[in-house]
Amino acid sequence: MNVLLIGSGGREHALAWKLAASPMLTKLYAAPGNPGIAQEAELVALDVADHAAVADFCREKNIDLVVVGPEGPLVAGIGDDLRAEGIRVFGPSGKAAQLEGSKGFTKDLCARYNIPTAAYGRFDNAAAARAYVEKMGAPIVIKADGLAAGKGVTVAMTLDEALEAVDACFEGAFGGAGASVVVEEFMTGEEASFFCLCDGKTALPFGTAQDHKRVGDGDVGPNTGGMGAYSPAPVMSAEMIERTMREIIEPTMRGIAEMGAPFSGVLFAGLMLTEDGPKLIEYNTRFGDPECQVLMMRLKDDLLVLLSAAADGQLGHMSVRWRDEAALTVVMAAKGYPGTPEKGSVISGLDKAKAAGAEVFHAGTGLKDGKIVANGGRVLNVTATGRNVTEAQARAYAAVDLVEWPEGFCRRDIGWRAVEREQAG
Ligand code: AMP
Ligand code: GLY
Repeated sequence: MNVLLIGSGGREHALAWKLAASPMLTKLYAAPGNPGIAQEAELVALDVADHAAVADFCREKNIDLVVVGPEGPLVAGIGDDLRAEGIRVFGPSGKAAQLEGSKGFTKDLCARYNIPTAAYGRFDNAAAARAYVEKMGAPIVIKADGLAAGKGVTVAMTLDEALEAVDACFEGAFGGAGASVVVEEFMTGEEASFFCLCDGKTALPFGTAQDHKRVGDGDVGPNTGGMGAYSPAPVMSAEMIERTMREIIEPTMRGIAEMGAPFSGVLFAGLMLTEDGPKLIEYNTRFGDPECQVLMMRLKDDLLVLLSAAADGQLGHMSVRWRDEAALTVVMAAKGYPGTPEKGSVISGLDKAKAAGAEVFHAGTGLKDGKIVANGGRVLNVTATGRNVTEAQARAYAAVDLVEWPEGFCRRDIGWRAVEREQAG
């Protein structure tokens, strides 16, 4: 099969690495890709926002499957436009991608199908949102409705902070994404990420992970896209997975199909495991980044076979096997992240990190004069496996220490919750 992979981050490097291992693969292309992805794929300079140009490329190169990494193109309808041209796509339609593209859409679906989630109100003006915030009191959570690159959520511990967040949304801090606002109940519990491969009818559980959103050790400081992750998530027991499927995923699949938009692709549920059971925080309609990196390290089966089956509505016949190991990834970021990262610093030692047994996925790198340089906020994902999270963590950090990059930084405690559990248990 000839495959076109869309995207340019660590998630896509991990997908490329796993797709390249498939005996079914003839040729892998990536648009736009990055220097790490270039080790596995031919990079093509396509404007992925130009769906007609992508379709032309697919015809010219006899592409059998397009795998879409990020949410932006999905919400923009690349899945619909390519399928209309007879091209097979792994990824949801634009309407089904509203599960990620509009928080209000998802909350309304949850309300209609009795899916456990935080109580909420949905507003299109500041006065009504402020009145609701004042009625509910703090702590409370304010969310811009649309895609805001992971920045549209404020967990407000005080009323003032909440009102400020409401005003910021309506004053345009998140552009069009904030023209509508969801205000919701503050939930407490441990968070976990749960993934399903979906084909419109079947949702096949596809692993669990936990990530670390805060920039600093001990989970403090500003929110980021994720500073590291590990899989599996120890809190996602077989019983918790069964309950999540029954109470959250299956009604969602039913509901979205009844709306005329059956979901195919990856459904990524961000869960809060509360005293009352699992509750949905949010959906993403693509793999997590960096959660994908740890899932790919553990996946035993052929990814290309699974993604093709999802695109063809054939997941009902499939199962998924995992290596009986834990995986952990440490994000190395450029100093300044999640604010304004410094770009252009030279990175070396990646071969040594790989020789130590880790995979180093490129998230935000560039090439300059033949050298790998930082070209983004999150730059590298140093990823290792082990018998348990403790061992995977030790191996990942041993490899991190071989990377020579004074202008980079990472958290030193990725996986701490799981490591504490393993040491206690
Ligand atoms: P999101 O961008 O929706 O994943 O939200 C970012 C983070 O905000 C989540 O990972 C949670 O830690 C937190 N969060 C979002 N919604 C809630 C909520 N209703 N209660 C408590 N924390 C929340
Ligand atoms: N790491 C969280 C996300 O991909 O949204």
